[in-house]
Amino acid sequence: MNSKKHPIVIAIDGTSASGKSTNAKLVAKALGYVYVDTGAMYRTLAWHCVQKKVDATNDKAIAALCRKWKTTLECVEKNHLRVVHLLVDGYFPEKEIRTPETAAAVSHVAAVPGVRKWMKLKQRECIQFGDLVMEGRDIGTNVFPETDYKFYLDATLAERSARRAADGVNENLAARDQRDSQRAVAPLMIALGAKVINNSAMTSEQTSRLLLEEIHKLMPAKK
Ligand code: DC
Repeated sequence: MNSKKHPIVIAIDGTSASGKSTNAKLVAKALGYVYVDTGAMYRTLAWHCVQKKVDATNDKAIAALCRKWKTTLECVEKNHLRVVHLLVDGYFPEKEIRTPETAAAVSHVAAVPGVRKWMKLKQRECIQFGDLVMEGRDIGTNVFPETDYKFYLDATLAERSARRAADGVNENLAARDQRDSQRAVAPLMIALGAKVINNSAMTSEQTSRLLLEEIHKLMPAKK
């Protein structure tokens, strides 16, 4: 009999600046799970397109680039958290993926069907590293639809814009939400059975505590 336990995946989806990263990291730390930021993977491809001077609105060229780039998945320890990085030619562009240039390209790149297909396979490969907390837009609906642990975070547009501004980022979140939720393939939406948490009036400590309470309720009791 195969007694090897199948890794658990906790899917945290939601709108931009709804606290996904902060809370996914807090939950991963508390449970000792590996943290996966799938937005960073899309951003890495967007950065690669900028580097290779591929037009972010040219779907065919982006899909072709995605088919041939040389990538590796790596699990590294960072601030007492195990984190998955997607490397291109052996390099993880940690700072470069946060520039306004990359941010402007990413939601176009993320809408290309071939890109989403490639990303889904790579993101599913992350279970090689163990139990995961994976954040994104389509984790519960498309990447790991079979998981029982699905969450959707949201907050009012005013609150989310204020959070971005506090981080020194001035971004049109309404436009990005619209592109993320209206694309044809794997749009941002609430997964069937997902627990929705609107954290407009909550601190990250309160949000992560609520997430952990819900996760513990879903976990089978240990014998
Ligand atoms: O979470 P983020 O801001 O780093 O995401 C960057 C972009 O990638 C954003 O426009 C949404 C998109 N994205 C996606 O389409 N699917 C995911 N699973 C993660 C991010």
